[in-house]
Amino acid sequence: MANRITVEGLRAGYGSVQVLEGLSLRVDDGETVALLGTNGNGKSTLMKSIMGIVKPTAGSVVAEIDGRKHDLVGREPEEIVELGVALVPEGRRLFPRLTVEENLLLGAYRPAARSRIAENLRFCYETFPRLAERRKQLAGSMSGGEQQMLALARSLMTAPKILLIDEPSVGLSPLLVHNTIGMIKKLKEDFDLTVLMAEQNFQQAIRIADRGYVIVHGHIEFECASREALQDNDVIRKLYLGV
Ligand SMILES: Nc1ncnc2c1ncn2[C@@H]1O[C@H](COP(=O)(O)OP(=O)(O)O)[C@@H](O)[C@H]1O
Ligand SMILES: [Mg+2]
Repeated sequence: MANRITVEGLRAGYGSVQVLEGLSLRVDDGETVALLGTNGNGKSTLMKSIMGIVKPTAGSVVAEIDGRKHDLVGREPEEIVELGVALVPEGRRLFPRLTVEENLLLGAYRPAARSRIAENLRFCYETFPRLAERRKQLAGSMSGGEQQMLALARSLMTAPKILLIDEPSVGLSPLLVHNTIGMIKKLKEDFDLTVLMAEQNFQQAIRIADRGYVIVHGHIEFECASREALQDNDVIRKLYLGV
């Protein structure tokens, strides 16, 4: 059954600071959509607004989960997670002094997921054998790439249908960025996810994106309907590649 997300005319910010200025986008069933934008343009604010962490002042966010539509605006983050939407936050936000396995178990607070903790944990370890080897290691003592792997795995512990990934490449070396983006593609396929991924790293994001949007000053400046269109777009080339 279909899983998609539709954002329309979203306005949100922090107190008197307006960040999202009537932003609209959609992610259709089974797509990986890239939200491209340089620093400070509102990517994280959009992710947080979808999750109910930042409260929008206008507009709508509708998630269709297994064919049922839910208006997300006004709901608490826990409820949104419960419906089947998960966020891999920017900067990973792990508990560095807890072990790999403890971090994973903390991801499983969604009641529907809790009944399947053992199964989800097994899936995570099958998907990321490296995490299984290191289940007793403290999260903070792992490499950046492994920590990003753990952050991705943790989000799967809530058994999401829609996954929001906020700048997975931040703070990683080029090789690890490459690996992380490859990992996201595999996850998406293995778990049959619908994915919205915020990225500044245009070249890496378009490796796996079906299409994309460019966010500038809190609104969508333009959208590209295919990977090829992203690659060939002059504005993107100017913004990201300086050509
Ligand atoms: N907690 C906050 N309080 C006030 N302003 C914020 C807060 N978080 C982000 N901002 C501002 O909102 C704007 C968009 O930030 P953000 O959504 O983090 O952008 P991006 O993720 O694209 O880098 C920036 O100008 C930033 O300074
Ligand atoms: Mg951000």
